[in-house]
Amino acid sequence: MADLTVRRLGTLFTTPVVLSSGPAGFGYELAEALDFRQIGAITTKTITLEPKTGNPQPRLVDCPSGALNSIGLENPGIAAFKRTVHPKIIELPLRRIVSLAASTYDDMSRLVAHIHALSGHDALELNLSCPNVGGQIPGADATEVEQFVRAAVAEATLPVLVKLPGDSGNLLRSCERALTAGAAGVTLINSVRGLRIDWSSGRPFLSREYGGLSGPAILPISLARVFEARRAFPEALIIGMGGVSDLGSALEMLMAGADFIGIGFGLMVDPQLPERLACALSGWLDQHDLSSVEDVIGIAHSGGFHVH
Ligand code: SIN
Repeated sequence: MADLTVRRLGTLFTTPVVLSSGPAGFGYELAEALDFRQIGAITTKTITLEPKTGNPQPRLVDCPSGALNSIGLENPGIAAFKRTVHPKIIELPLRRIVSLAASTYDDMSRLVAHIHALSGHDALELNLSCPNVGGQIPGADATEVEQFVRAAVAEATLPVLVKLPGDSGNLLRSCERALTAGAAGVTLINSVRGLRIDWSSGRPFLSREYGGLSGPAILPISLARVFEARRAFPEALIIGMGGVSDLGSALEMLMAGADFIGIGFGLMVDPQLPERLACALSGWLDQHDLSSVEDVIGIAHSGGFHVH
């Protein structure tokens, strides 16, 4: 059977399939639905220093081939995370990436210091790209990205990843500054800013008007961003996400250069999608006489498969 394991960040991940931050909650909510052995890692819901109730309802609306969300980083805050979430999540048989967001560099340092005091996590992901909170998206400004990464790396004992927006700022410059400041990799991309209008009332559907579009509708955007980041940074770790919903799109994301495939919207539609994808990936590699998933990662940059 083909080998799905990927060794990155000095750690062995059982598969390249990662649960993206948000829809997977803290993982234990999915314990009944999902075979965690098929999952490389979970990225937790984003945690902030203080608890957040999120944006008012309505904050989710269907779209053709996706959904628009405006959750607003609802989370219990770092103190409750440490007290009630951490003890449960470290029992889960999968690797853990903790997602963090802060509005100042000092707050980011403080958050990271809190996680530093806990054991059992594998990496941090700085969410610098939520489109649903006030102010400018920090990930759209390469200088902000660098400062947030420096603030985190100075306190971190775990590898630091940075989640960036696919539709604002200069992505390659932000990646470069993040990596120079000590990030171990990048997560590309967050949801894409969008709007829907309820034509029966003549008003935007979401309470905050705009939201973040995720799902198959954004696959070509996420593929383009992962492809160009891999071309520019051949050695960087990349978690690719945005619209992966079946075997074909998972293969595309890996071939574009993602080391891991993040599943977000797909999990809301079908909680078993991540494990089915891992099985389908393994079957596809076997059928094509490929011994490892590493044989497809980034292959679109080296001329594809050579037919003999
Ligand atoms: C949200 O909480 O609004 C979604 C999270 C994100 O887009 O980063």
